[in-house]
Amino acid sequence: MEYRSYIAARLPSMGMTEEELASAIAVPPDTSLGDYALPCFKFAKILRKPPVKIAEELAAAYPTDDVIPEVSAVNGYLNFRVGKKGLAEETLEAISKLRGDYGTSDMGRGKTVCIDYSSVNIAKPFHIGHLSTTVLGGSLYRIFKALGYRVVGINHLGDYGTQFGKLISAYKHWGDREAVERGGIHAINDLYVRFNNEATEEMEAEAREYFRLIESGDLEANELFEWFKSLTMAYVQKIYDRLHITFDSYAGERFYIDKMQPVIDELRQKGLLTESQGAQVVDLAPYGMPPFIVLRSDGASLYATRDLAAAFYRKKTYDFDKCLYVVAYQQNLHFQQLFKVIELMGEPWAKDLVHVAYGMVSLEDGAMSTRKGKVVWLEDVLSRCVEKAAAVLEEKNPHLEGKAEVAEKVGVGAVVFGALYNNKIKDIVFSYDKALNFDGETSVYVQYTCARARSVLAKAEESGIAYEKAAVCDLCPAEFELVKALAEFPETVKTAAATYESSAVARYAVSTAQKFNKFYIDCKVMQANSDMVRAFRLRLTDAALVTLTNALSLLGIGVPDKM
Ligand code: ARG
Repeated sequence: MEYRSYIAARLPSMGMTEEELASAIAVPPDTSLGDYALPCFKFAKILRKPPVKIAEELAAAYPTDDVIPEVSAVNGYLNFRVGKKGLAEETLEAISKLRGDYGTSDMGRGKTVCIDYSSVNIAKPFHIGHLSTTVLGGSLYRIFKALGYRVVGINHLGDYGTQFGKLISAYKHWGDREAVERGGIHAINDLYVRFNNEATEEMEAEAREYFRLIESGDLEANELFEWFKSLTMAYVQKIYDRLHITFDSYAGERFYIDKMQPVIDELRQKGLLTESQGAQVVDLAPYGMPPFIVLRSDGASLYATRDLAAAFYRKKTYDFDKCLYVVAYQQNLHFQQLFKVIELMGEPWAKDLVHVAYGMVSLEDGAMSTRKGKVVWLEDVLSRCVEKAAAVLEEKNPHLEGKAEVAEKVGVGAVVFGALYNNKIKDIVFSYDKALNFDGETSVYVQYTCARARSVLAKAEESGIAYEKAAVCDLCPAEFELVKALAEFPETVKTAAATYESSAVARYAVSTAQKFNKFYIDCKVMQANSDMVRAFRLRLTDAALVTLTNALSLLGIGVPDKM
């Protein structure tokens, strides 16, 4: 039940549309007065009455029914009580029916969202800086899919640039096929770092020549490039597998090299291109931004040029309703410029381009020794967290079956959840210990709650208690709080999509797990004093397990059966 819409449809308009009214209705922090509340202050002006009076009049006129049996006015707020039994019945019914699909909807049917995320750089470290884009993009991918959108996941590979010439030069001088084959991305990175430290003038010139050779289609240079690329991709694929991340397209920067010219021509035609110190730029001074450089003075394209071509290509190929770029806030200006240029070109879809910016992740023990100097490789963070998870689990439950798999789910989940729990724009400092706290605001806490729910259900099943169709009993406060939380899940998924905040789902998971645990402690499930109540509580337990599992799955986090 969409209570907000239900209530809004039964209120007078007061200068707002029904949707606006619905979104003005909030869940009050203290639910002792009502389950939903409408603050009436903003209507004072239009109705020319004090808010207290407005609330009183609205309360008197509201048509109560089984869904909203009680309405009251308190200090300018209009409070609504929802019918407990009706809500419980409806929610449990929906969960029983939909199970793994509870929380999904078809609101996005017929619409397409492109999500550009992770977007790794070939032959460069896949490091902690890529964590957020990868897991935030990955979770948005799942969230939009769950809402019925067609989603196109794009890994805009950083596979173009002079660095590849340098790499080939370094490989020619110091490389060894077998060693690179064995060392993979680490060996490649070593070569690149060495080039930057030790390259002579001649090697720099040679690197430029190799880059030119890649460009002109030289066979050997391209074979080397493809080899470096395949080693990089094999390496990152292993990490994507651990994070349950997938893509529909790996069209990277190189893919756009032959797609830039028409866009540049169009810019010129539209009189947007000007020359500045030999470079071709779009002047953005009227918008308070530095010029957008399209071609350097030597005629070379830039990251920005390729992004410009990519946006047009995506619009043409996927006809998206939204195109998201999940990229760190350091690139704010780049995307502001890019979107502005497309707007100036007269493209109405410029408004559908969204930079989903996020903050930086650093490690609490920033000095953590990594295999490669200062760079913190994402793989090392995952492995270390899994190791630590294994140690914690060993201590808690030494007889746990399938320890390694559980540790993988718990450890990887903790890293993912750590990156997703806060509002995305915040910088975060990741702490292994905090992320693995069984009693914290963590995925481990949620996973453990699920394991607890599952073990209660297993006991019931052992004793042959059927609960799937249990009738709803009178609800005690903890039960009702849990029911309300479960009912809020579909709305939460929509909010997450509308705000590009997977954190809404992460926070939801923690707060719902807290409500489940309160219910679990307050209402003894198996020791209930009647069969009917026991069966109902078991059904509620099952519904909580399903909902929490779905929430974590939207974040790309698995739930172990036992912990
Ligand atoms: N490879 C880039 C980087 O690591 C990110 C690319 C983001 N996507 C884009 N279309 N610009 O900074």
